[in-house]
Amino acid sequence: MGPSDSKIAAHYNASGVREIRLMNSSTANPALPQLIDSFGRVHNNLRVSVTDRCNIRCFYCMPADNVEFMPKHELLSFEEIERVVRIGTTLGIDRVRLTGGEPLVRRDLPKLVEQLVKIPGIVDIGLTTNGVLLGEQAQQLRDAGLKRLNISLDALDPEVFKKVTRRDSYDKVIEGIQAARDAGFSPIKLNAVSVKGLTEDQIIPFADLARETDTEVRFIEFMPLDADSKWQRDKVLLASEIIERLETAFGTLVPVKSTNPNAPANNYEFADGRGRIGMIASVSQPFCSTCNRFRLTAEGKLRNCLFSMEETDVRGLLRGNGSDADIAAAMLASIAAKKSGHQINSADFIQPDRPMYSIGG
Ligand code: 5AD
Ligand code: SF4
Repeated sequence: MGPSDSKIAAHYNASGVREIRLMNSSTANPALPQLIDSFGRVHNNLRVSVTDRCNIRCFYCMPADNVEFMPKHELLSFEEIERVVRIGTTLGIDRVRLTGGEPLVRRDLPKLVEQLVKIPGIVDIGLTTNGVLLGEQAQQLRDAGLKRLNISLDALDPEVFKKVTRRDSYDKVIEGIQAARDAGFSPIKLNAVSVKGLTEDQIIPFADLARETDTEVRFIEFMPLDADSKWQRDKVLLASEIIERLETAFGTLVPVKSTNPNAPANNYEFADGRGRIGMIASVSQPFCSTCNRFRLTAEGKLRNCLFSMEETDVRGLLRGNGSDADIAAAMLASIAAKKSGHQINSADFIQPDRPMYSIGG
């Protein structure tokens, strides 16, 4: 059998994780096209932005004032989102994460969760939120079938929180985290964007939190996706620097072997076995080579990468008379055009026009 007889296909390993496998022509199912790019990466994870609006103003994402939001009629309706996800499942999408802006400012979001949970083939729905509205919505989201929640919180000190978010919502977020615990989300996952000169003093308190409560904290390197285009390499608080600080305080960290080859975080346990911490080193150790993510923006553009310069419109197909096959073809074409990775570390890197809040994190 020559190489041309082989096909790349996805399968699930013993832990339920989707993996790429080379199959020969007798085992592959040519009737099922998959979202496989020219580098062999299988895309099963769709991140759906439901709004570009937000109730806070993190400086690494949004401008401070005068934000121009998308007009409401431009946003995909829940039915339109559901249709794209359903078509996605025929191409191998089995995981969805809802993002924003801040997804909880979209009215009736639990209804969308309910609609998506019912789609055959979707095995996991997650949500990334800033937590401000979780006090009101955590229980409804849980009841709707949401399984996983990531809460963005960059500082445990209210003053630093205010510097990052330019808003006074710290207490609301803490209330929201408690509401999420009460609703049964476990473990609570916190994402903390790390910025040089600003968040160093938050590292040890976050580690204490992870060690003392059922909380997983993941530090994320600051990426060039801010609306003000003020990102500079020397503002990135590197994962290696965070590890150094943690090791000075707690002793050697022990890397945890990942069961999921697509997970962006490198996880560590503390030497005494109490607590776990993750590093998302998007800048210093890009994980593009194992990326399985595909994005749908709030106004219906497919993006094959956070940093891509091109996008593919599906709203026109949804609102014109595009067939499911047309939409599937648009998804396949978008993934086929995916580049090998972001070029943040190359001299000719160009920051995309769309900042994080309008792409969806
Ligand atoms: N760099 C790194 N992370 C970012 N996020 C938003 N903007 C940036 C950026 N420029 C994070 C948010 C949230 C997730 C959606 O992405 O904090 O956790
Ligand atoms: Fe809002 Fe999230 Fe952007 Fe912060 S990072 S401004 S919480 S959309």
